[in-house]
Amino acid sequence: MLRKPRTALIGAGRMGAALLRGWGAVHSFEPAGSVLVVDPNLSEKVEDLVKQNSARSSATTDKDMLAKLETLVLAIKPQKFEEIAQTLAPILPKKVLIISVIAGVSLQRIEHYFGPGPHVRAMPNTAAEVGKSISVICANKHVSTAHTQRVFELLEAVGQVEQLDDERLMDVVTAVSGSGLAYFFLLVEVLAAAGQAEGLPKDLAQKLAKETLVGSGALMDQLDQSPADLRSGVTSPGGTTAAALDVMMGNGAFAEMMRNAVSAATRRGGQLRNVS
Ligand SMILES: NC(=O)c1ccc[n+]([C@@H]2O[C@H](COP(=O)([O-])OP(=O)(O)OC[C@H]3O[C@@H](n4cnc5c(N)ncnc54)[C@H](OP(=O)(O)O)[C@@H]3O)[C@@H](O)[C@H]2O)c1
Repeated sequence: MLRKPRTALIGAGRMGAALLRGWGAVHSFEPAGSVLVVDPNLSEKVEDLVKQNSARSSATTDKDMLAKLETLVLAIKPQKFEEIAQTLAPILPKKVLIISVIAGVSLQRIEHYFGPGPHVRAMPNTAAEVGKSISVICANKHVSTAHTQRVFELLEAVGQVEQLDDERLMDVVTAVSGSGLAYFFLLVEVLAAAGQAEGLPKDLAQKLAKETLVGSGALMDQLDQSPADLRSGVTSPGGTTAAALDVMMGNGAFAEMMRNAVSAATRRGGQLRNVS
């Protein structure tokens, strides 16, 4: 007979499925039945992951199923948080570690619905799908060293993890690394469009732009050099790169645009938190 689950994942959409894949890779499902996946519409992909790892899945859950639960991971949409928290709070055992990856749901709000206990807010990004997320966590005062280790274990399965003490900075984190992937995708789009405008065939321009970003990432990952040093390394005085960088950096326009973009995303995070 399967054991009662120790860890439950509520919501197995894009982020939940990425976490499951990561946990499968680092064998977090051992022993069989220790992980429960709750989602009313499990995708085939998630069903396969559940089967491959001898986990359990269910459309709903109840007090008996959660009797031995130690860790609850919330990966549902922000607008579902209140309803799901109200259903789960009365049936959770006391002192369950709650990890929420829900954007904009504060530790205070989690405590409002679940009562005092060890709660962690985490902000991963979609690179979790390929094990390359950078997640930032923020814990409340009830979180012990053992809890923190567990959080790192679960999130390191999809990439790297950093910790912040000041929860107010989570909106900036969301603006930099939560939303940040989109900025680099945009950079590839506009670089490709610029290459095309200068005469390159569309497909080639797109491939060159994409692979250049991939190559830059790999260099930053593998060489122990700052981005500024890497940039200097490919910029000969008076050369072609310098001509382009003069346009981008000459009047500070690029830095100012990024500053304004991150500031807008940070403000929007605050607004969404206040209306949700
Ligand atoms: N995706 C990202 O890059 C990313 C990054 C950082 C943080 N996050 C956060 O992660 C959370 C999930 O995002 P996502 O992109 O994975 O969303 P998603 O793909 O919509 O996944 C949410 C899942 O929860 C399911 N669900 C709905 N009601 C439920 C219930 N009562 N019990 C259990 N599961 C239920 C949904 O099913 P239905 O589709 O049938 O409603 C869906 O499968 C969000 O709060 C988001 O802020 C996401």
